[in-house]
Amino acid sequence: MIGTHSIRNLALIGFMGSGKSSVGRLAADLLHFTFLDTDHVIEARAGKSITDIFQQDGEPIFRDWERRIVEELTRREKTVIATGGGMPAIEVNLASLKTHALVVCLWASPETIWERVRGHAHRPLLNEADPLERIRQLLTAREPHYRQAGVLVNTERRSVREVAQHVIHQFQMAQSTPR
Ligand code: S3P
Repeated sequence: MIGTHSIRNLALIGFMGSGKSSVGRLAADLLHFTFLDTDHVIEARAGKSITDIFQQDGEPIFRDWERRIVEELTRREKTVIATGGGMPAIEVNLASLKTHALVVCLWASPETIWERVRGHAHRPLLNEADPLERIRQLLTAREPHYRQAGVLVNTERRSVREVAQHVIHQFQMAQSTPR
């Protein structure tokens, strides 16, 4: 696609608690883009919470939902997309996002992630005896996928606003660079 600008959207990937939703919402506001959270789309379509989907239908069904939503995203424009933490660990999903979006990965250490998510009960994958250990395992397994993002942003000790501004800067640079 030399000479054309196919980066129409901004996709945020990264582990649970990396800040995709809060950074994404602010970035969308600042860019005057629509904000879309794939978990919310799935909940609305399925008519139940992510926790209920995992409990009643199982993780493979949830991953099917994600795959279908990712396909639909290829038709979006001017959208900031916050993805579920496991979505880009499936190669076709990440490849699809890259066809229309700058994919930015928000990064944080397992300890920081645990601090951010520990008060929240809605993440079924962390309902475990040792959630910090589970975060470490999942993060290690997913790191190679997250590293395939176009941009990697460390969110440690940075405010949501700082991260959002940095992400927007990267997005604007990517858009003005012919691909
Ligand atoms: C998941 C992350 C969650 C949600 C689901 C599975 C994951 O989204 O999609 O609980 O596999 O890491 P957030 O990253 O928005 O918490």
